[in-house]
Amino acid sequence: MPALTALDTTAAETPPDGKQVFKDRCALCHTVRKLAPELCEKLPAQRRDFLERYLASHHAPDPAERKAVRDYLDECCD
Ligand code: HEC
Repeated sequence: MPALTALDTTAAETPPDGKQVFKDRCALCHTVRKLAPELCEKLPAQRRDFLERYLASHHAPDPAERKAVRDYLDECCD
C-alpha cells in the first residue's frame, strides 16, 4: 500500500520525543526528580534560556533533541 510508505517517511521527520531523549541521554546520570527542584525554581523563560545554553555542551548538542528535552522538563515543572 503506497500510503504506508508515505507514513514511514513522515515518521522519520517527526521531532524527537523529549521523554525518550531524556531516558536515552540523561537518565543514566540523573532523574527528573533530582533535577526538578532547582530547575523549577527558575521562571519558565529563564529555565528555557539556561537549558538552551547549558545543554548545548551538556549531552544534548542536537538542537531538535535539546528543544524536546527542554519542552519535556517544562512539562515536568507545570
Ligand atoms: C555522564 C553523566 C551525565 C549525563 C549523561 C547528563 N548529565 Fe547533567 N549533570 C551531570 C553532573 C555530574 C552534573 C553536576 C555537575 C555540574 O554542574 O557539572 C550535571 C548537572 C546538570 C544540571 C544542573 C546544572 C546547574 O548548574 O544547575 C542539569 C539541568 C542537567 N545536568 C541536565 C541534564 C540533561 C537534560 C541531560 C540529558 C540531555 C544530562 N544532564 C545528561 C552529569 C550528567
